[in-house]
Amino acid sequence: MKWTLLSALAIAGPRVVHAALYTDPASLPRTTYDYVVVGGGVGGGVVAARLSEDPRYRILLIEAGPSNEGILPVEIPLLCTRLSPNTPYTWNFTTTPQAGLDGRALAYPRGRLLGGSSSVNYMAWTRGSRDDYDRIAKVTGDIGWSWDALVPIMKSIETLTPPPDGRNTVGEIDPSIHGTNGPISVSLHMALPVDKYSIETSQELSNFPYTVDYNDGKPLGVSYIQAAIRNGSRVSSATGYIQPALAAHSTLDVLVNSHVVKILQTGSSKGVPIFGGVQFATSANGPIFTVNATREVILSAGSLGTPQLLMLSGIGNSSYLQSMGIKPLVNLPDVGQHLQDHPSVANVFNVNSSDPTTDDIRTNSTFAAEQMAEWQASGQGWYSLSPGAQFGYFRLPNNSPVFSGAGDPSAGPSSPHVEIIVSDGFGGTPQAIPATGRYLSLLTAVVSPSSRGSVTLASTDPFADPVVDPNFFSSSVDIGIMREAVKTARQFAAAPAWKSYIVNEYGPFQSAQTDADIEAVIRNSTLTVFHPVGTAVMAPFGSTHGVVNPDLTVKGTKGLRVVDASVFPFIPAAHTQAPTYIVAERAAILIRLAAILS
Ligand SMILES: Cc1cc2nc3c(=O)[nH]c(=O)nc-3n(C[C@H](O)[C@H](O)[C@H](O)COP(=O)(O)OP(=O)(O)OC[C@H]3O[C@@H](n4cnc5c(N)ncnc54)[C@H](O)[C@@H]3O)c2cc1C
Ligand SMILES: *[C@@H]1O[C@H](CO)[C@@H](O)[C@H](O)[C@H]1NC(C)=O
Ligand SMILES: *[C@@H]1O[C@H](CO)[C@@H](O)[C@H](O)[C@H]1NC(C)=O
Ligand SMILES: *[C@@H]1O[C@H](CO)[C@@H](O)[C@H](O)[C@H]1NC(C)=O
Ligand SMILES: *[C@@H]1O[C@H](CO)[C@@H](O)[C@H](O)[C@H]1NC(C)=O
Ligand SMILES: *[C@@H]1O[C@H](CO)[C@@H](O)[C@H](O)[C@H]1NC(C)=O
Ligand SMILES: *[C@@H]1O[C@H](CO)[C@@H](O)[C@H](O)[C@H]1NC(C)=O
Ligand SMILES: *[C@@H]1O[C@H](CO)[C@@H](O)[C@H](O)[C@H]1NC(C)=O
Repeated sequence: MKWTLLSALAIAGPRVVHAALYTDPASLPRTTYDYVVVGGGVGGGVVAARLSEDPRYRILLIEAGPSNEGILPVEIPLLCTRLSPNTPYTWNFTTTPQAGLDGRALAYPRGRLLGGSSSVNYMAWTRGSRDDYDRIAKVTGDIGWSWDALVPIMKSIETLTPPPDGRNTVGEIDPSIHGTNGPISVSLHMALPVDKYSIETSQELSNFPYTVDYNDGKPLGVSYIQAAIRNGSRVSSATGYIQPALAAHSTLDVLVNSHVVKILQTGSSKGVPIFGGVQFATSANGPIFTVNATREVILSAGSLGTPQLLMLSGIGNSSYLQSMGIKPLVNLPDVGQHLQDHPSVANVFNVNSSDPTTDDIRTNSTFAAEQMAEWQASGQGWYSLSPGAQFGYFRLPNNSPVFSGAGDPSAGPSSPHVEIIVSDGFGGTPQAIPATGRYLSLLTAVVSPSSRGSVTLASTDPFADPVVDPNFFSSSVDIGIMREAVKTARQFAAAPAWKSYIVNEYGPFQSAQTDADIEAVIRNSTLTVFHPVGTAVMAPFGSTHGVVNPDLTVKGTKGLRVVDASVFPFIPAAHTQAPTYIVAERAAILIRLAAILS
């Protein structure tokens, strides 16, 4: 499995005419491709690799950042928290000051290398609920987005893989619902001392039932976390899709270090503009290159990059574009609107643990060195961990006063309002990281948010960051759910199971007892789970709202599709990478079908 591009090229020798990684646009072998894919993250990596399985088509994947290869911190799961923000592998976006968060502006990083955010993310593997997908099918009028229709695609993505410690995982995951031959390895973490307390809590308190596997469409309950990790190393769309496509001498060309600045209209068909040209540059002052796609341009620049590029290309709210000095070509007012994300807040506890926690990696350099040696020798030990030990998914009662007026925002009765992340160490808070001590963090996230934000343009300079406003807690339902979530996390921590382990609450929640106090701490310490979606939403064919059709073609255009997290009309109650892989795998099928029918 440890194929590298270099070894592939070395074996193939001079016969290689296909499938190469280019770092300089001037060296591209051609200026016309069948498909040009913009952005090498989850959406783009999957689509480019899948299309390249058909030898009839030439594909170019263009990525702004560098290759993922040989970057050790990208491979080592536990180092994920150090990959963002403000590293050579990230876009360093910042939100606007958030009124709902006491005016704080949050760091809002995205991955900027092959694999996109899947090369810097925290690897959690969650599909979401049956209701999440059935709601998307309903609002788009396309049954192909329903849970039952997508299950075969979900399985086709995965290879269920043993955890690094190779233990028997019976009862910790349900193999029957997972794939065995897909590009993304999914595994449990090594056994952690803290696991037993979570599981005992689910036995002691009936409102925290244990559920074997949250990926079966009914996620409610407490489960072990599954992650995109193979044998202790990160698995991303780069390692799972892009590198294997290159190694297989497919028809894929990959161009890195190239920032796409605009999608160009190259013609029209019955009055509908065709967007077949892609302009890019290696730096703000560098020369601009153009390639054409004879079949399709696929925009996969992510939930922040995609709406920015659409607007820069004249696709968006026409009067807004005009006010920015951009010539409007297609009037789609929903471009950049409906931004949704999951806010998260951490209840941190001091613990009296005789075993190490992930804190020890930070506080004990001897331990850290030992563990690094173990990871390098065998892929095992504490560096093989992604953040978090268990996920708990819960609903507020149907008659909760939190819903009065606005109604229940969840996708349906199998879908949670709240996620609790049981995390074995200090994290998830803007507070300074303490130099000593062992901690437990219960991160609570609102996974059915009602707030809606936006992505707009700061300027017409494609190298300028867009204006990103997730508008956290602009809906009162969301702050109500978060307040109840914090109380739920406290009930969890109050289970007898934790009695000898948890000493007391740490930090600002310690003195927060009234609802008003709790809400004040929430506003003061909420961060993002890094799940922006919804800025190029799907809507039914023929609708006057939405940005893309249910087949992900951009409304009012020809030859242009969006395949990334921006197309979700509602954010799934899940970490968003698996849902985005699912969208992208179905997109690849739809694109190949369209090519056959054309
Ligand atoms: C820090 C962090 C932690 C996360 N943790 C998790 C987790 O544990 N589990 C989970 O499920 N999800 C997680 N996510 C979210 C998940 O990674 C994303 O939902 C997913 O990657 C979205 O896929 P995408 O294709 O929409 O965008 P991305 O994967 O971000 O890909 C977009 C790509 O487009 C490129 N691009 C953008 N603009 C341009 C341009 N103009 N020209 C050329 N290329 C461009 C980018 O560089 C990037 O490679 C996390 C995200 C982050 C940032
Ligand atoms: C993000 O910040 C890091 C560290 O300062 C820098 O190396 C990187 O180039 C920045 N990313 C972008 C897109 O500017
Ligand atoms: C792309 O297509 C347009 C319209 O047909 C044409 O004018 C342009 O020269 C083409 N560019 C390249 C690089 O082939
Ligand atoms: C389009 O943009 C204009 C100007 O910013 C704004 O007033 C208008 O409400 C927007 N239209 C829609 C439908 O969002
Ligand atoms: C920590 O646990 C040990 C026994 O394991 C006990 O002796 C000690 O008093 C505990 N400390 C605190 C602060 O609870
Ligand atoms: C630090 O780690 C080493 C190696 O595991 C261990 O022997 C030592 O007891 C640890 N020190 C503390 C203070 O926990
Ligand atoms: C796991 O990784 C280790 C080294 O990191 C290697 O020795 C071992 O063969 C790998 N196992 C598998 C199944 O790939
Ligand atoms: C808000 O955060 C600041 C800085 O972390 C802290 O000093 C202050 O006490 C906090 N306020 C509340 C209400 O938690």
